[in-house]
Amino acid sequence: MSVENQFKPKIVAFCCNWCSYAGADLAGSSRLTYPADVKIIRVPCSCRVNPMFILRAFEKGADGVIICGCHPGDCHYSTGNYYARRRMTLLFSMLDYIGIENGRTRVEWVSAAEGVKFSQTMNEFVDKIRSLGENVRLGDLRCKK
Ligand code: FES
Repeated sequence: MSVENQFKPKIVAFCCNWCSYAGADLAGSSRLTYPADVKIIRVPCSCRVNPMFILRAFEKGADGVIICGCHPGDCHYSTGNYYARRRMTLLFSMLDYIGIENGRTRVEWVSAAEGVKFSQTMNEFVDKIRSLGENVRLGDLRCKK
């Protein structure tokens, strides 16, 4: 398959302001690459990500959603990422139950000093979504062009 015909997944990455977004920034300023298919949404903390945001992203045509936050114990709101982890575990098991493949969602801890990890994580995630193909289960057909 030629590069032009390769499936370009739409990826939404929710990044907490204090660590992961800074990690993404570091990846950019270190000239590390990750696919342009990743659209970053900055949130104050990973616990700000309401499960409805993820369902909405899938409904609007996202093929994969990743949530990035501070490492456990490093959250700037002390326990926000613990809440996020618990909430996402429940949501992901529900998504699995309704037939959304496990690989379409992911939670990753990336600190502000981990630009390399951010870049690697995004590259891995995009590869995984490419192998899964387009999200057809939750996508709202009215959002398709
Ligand atoms: Fe980063 Fe809470 S501030 S996860």
